[in-house]
Amino acid sequence: MSVVKFFNGEQIPLEMHKVRIVQKLNLPPVEYRLKAITEAGNNTFLLQNRDVFMDMLTDSGVNAMSDQQQAAMMIADDSYAGSATYTRLASKLKEIFGFPYFLPAHQGRACENILAQVLVSPGSLVPMNYHFTTTKAHITLRGGLIEEIVADAGLEVVSAHPFKGNMDIARLIGIIEKHGREKIAFVRMEAGTNLIGGQPFSLQNLTDIRRVCDQHGLLLILDASLLADNLYFIKTREASCKDLSIREITLRMAALCDVIYFSARKLGCARGGGICIKTEEMYRRLRGLVPLYEGFLTYGGMSVREMEAMTVGLEETMDEDMISQGPQFIRYMTDELVRLGVPVVTPAGGLGCHLNAMEFLRHVPQSEYPAGALAAALYIAGGIRGMERGTLSEQRDSEGNEVFSNMELLRLALPRRVFTLSQVKYAIDRIAWLYEHRGLIGGLAFTEEPEILRFFYGRLKPVSAWQDKLAARFRQDFGDSL
Ligand code: F0G
Repeated sequence: MSVVKFFNGEQIPLEMHKVRIVQKLNLPPVEYRLKAITEAGNNTFLLQNRDVFMDMLTDSGVNAMSDQQQAAMMIADDSYAGSATYTRLASKLKEIFGFPYFLPAHQGRACENILAQVLVSPGSLVPMNYHFTTTKAHITLRGGLIEEIVADAGLEVVSAHPFKGNMDIARLIGIIEKHGREKIAFVRMEAGTNLIGGQPFSLQNLTDIRRVCDQHGLLLILDASLLADNLYFIKTREASCKDLSIREITLRMAALCDVIYFSARKLGCARGGGICIKTEEMYRRLRGLVPLYEGFLTYGGMSVREMEAMTVGLEETMDEDMISQGPQFIRYMTDELVRLGVPVVTPAGGLGCHLNAMEFLRHVPQSEYPAGALAAALYIAGGIRGMERGTLSEQRDSEGNEVFSNMELLRLALPRRVFTLSQVKYAIDRIAWLYEHRGLIGGLAFTEEPEILRFFYGRLKPVSAWQDKLAARFRQDFGDSL
């Protein structure tokens, strides 16, 4: 990886690319922001993008594409069957993961649907390091249950553990012994574990899981949506891998798995998804659902242009200068917030910087959704759109009771190669101001609560007039500033 030291000793991320296409941003005044978040039902998913200055909602489908990716889109082959675009993508995946079979799907959750339909039956169990919202929804919709067995460090918000996404091997063995291997549909590992703050697992941990799976004849499935970040952390944090290339690490990881699926809205910086499969038997079991739900086997619901961009994006993922950009910006933002005393998830992971709302808003109970309240407050304070990753993102249990999340996080995603350092500094500044005035922030209550994936389109209201007070304080402190 390129190392560039500054004469003045400063440690800041340096972009290894230049900007060639830009999009104008709009920062509406605080009074307008208050109105906009109210109209959006205090749900940042429902804000209009024209009202957002820094869109840190997600890194899904919004990472900057390279000139090479855009150029590749021009040669896409639209043929329904036998498309050269499909062949290029399938060959690239075979080269990177070493698996002979590939099934395209329109995005990550479509892969999860296919895997759950084929492998999960009522009462079956899926042990995993940690769930992702859509993964859990698909498994539970099939009558299956998930068992989250991330090692204890994973749930410690403040930690120095380099691999907080590791699975607890003893608990995996315990589950197999308790329920019997027949009950277990598959074991799932998620790279760059999203909901605990984009935290990686180590190659050693995956090797240990494989050993247990082999002993009990279990399938090991990797969710590789956030693989790029995880690869960077293995390379930089796992001593035994420091001399391996990204390509070698990827092949070693893949060799330990039976199936690898991914959202190409994240991996490969395009829009789509797919399932890579080691054995012909599994390929045949999964294949039938692709034409049914996605599209023919050579495009799976994706645009061929996106598939071309994905092929190039996957190749670019093997470049350390490319995959280091996200983690370096995230580390900068996280370290600065730590310096300012703001509670964040440490160590810095991938995907984004995660504010610890449970600590930030100690006075807001989980029943009033502290992470959701913080998301609304940060939009009011800075036109910054983050994503609630806490109790709001959970679903109620079968009796309708609220399931309190292990963590209440406000995720501020850093879509790769999108924001400049001055924009990141602006976000840090507004968060620091908000922390100073955290006492002004109150909770939220649902006015409209959908049954499934309620965080996407549910609507909420503030439990008191705290938002008016916050906006007024902003005006008082910042004068005529936007
Ligand atoms: N798995 C992980 C780990 C993810 O982060 C996502 C999506 C999916 C599966 C589903 O993929 O969106 O292409 O259907 N994460 C997005 C996010 C939504 O904002 O973190 P998808």
